[in-house]
Amino acid sequence: MGSWEWFVSAFRQRSGMDLSAYKRPQMERRIQSFMAGVGAADFPQLVRMVEADRELYRRFVDHLTINVSEFFRNPQHWEVLRERVIPMLLARRRPLQVWSAGCSTGEEPYSLALLMREYFPGACERILATDIDAEALERAAAGRYRERVLEQVPRAMLERYFQRDGAGLRVNDSIRSMVRFQRHDLVRDPPPPAMDLILCRNVVIYFTESAREHVYRGFVRALRPGGVLFVGSTEQVFQAAELGLEHLDTFFYRAVGAGPLPHGGCSAG
Ligand SMILES: C[S@@+](CC[C@H](N)C(=O)[O-])C[C@H]1O[C@@H](n2cnc3c(N)ncnc32)[C@H](O)[C@@H]1O
Repeated sequence: MGSWEWFVSAFRQRSGMDLSAYKRPQMERRIQSFMAGVGAADFPQLVRMVEADRELYRRFVDHLTINVSEFFRNPQHWEVLRERVIPMLLARRRPLQVWSAGCSTGEEPYSLALLMREYFPGACERILATDIDAEALERAAAGRYRERVLEQVPRAMLERYFQRDGAGLRVNDSIRSMVRFQRHDLVRDPPPPAMDLILCRNVVIYFTESAREHVYRGFVRALRPGGVLFVGSTEQVFQAAELGLEHLDTFFYRAVGAGPLPHGGCSAG
């Protein structure tokens, strides 16, 4: 009792979160720093403490998950999404079903909502945005941001879709209503079906190889044929073909089964 394996199993039984899906050294470091902060001497004590105190449990999960995000993170990839990927998807069907998986505090799904509203009005009514971290989701739903995470938002969009709110800015209701936030664990919960576009960026980098493969297999099941997966700038899907994905562009993969890829650029609109 008290080993890492014991802790992973005890925590899984009590909370449902499977820590064995994450890279162990990173996880252990974060847990140790949390334990030092709350004065837990060992794993059994930590388990007792988070079990007895719901608020502490929430803080613990929040500490384990790395919530760093920003609007239009890696803007050049969002250009590819706007200029090539979305027009390609819209040539097949509309409105699009979109899922932002591991959405953290909402910067990613709101970026997508802004892009759709601005460039493809009416083409996507609702974006599903999920995360394992309930606290991050609460902040996401509130839609309040410091200016430093808004640096990549074009000025015209800032003026049109945000209002001043204390020290920061708040996304207005017309954009907030496009996004539905929901708790979802990529490791344990089944993926929602019939998606045209999935964004999962800077999430699986923290996962073990087998957890990552499990998540990607789930995405392939969740995507309609021809649907697209958008990954983070340090992520690549190895053995994409084996999983049923083909490389569409850097950081974009398409679920097979929709005929040949269109060549060259696609026009927007
Ligand atoms: C670094 S943030 C990425 C935010 C956003 N996608 C981006 O690229 O800016 C990673 C997010 O993954 C979430 N996460 C970690 N494990 C998860 C899991 N098993 N299921 C769903 N989300 C998870 C964390 O809570 C965190 O909010």
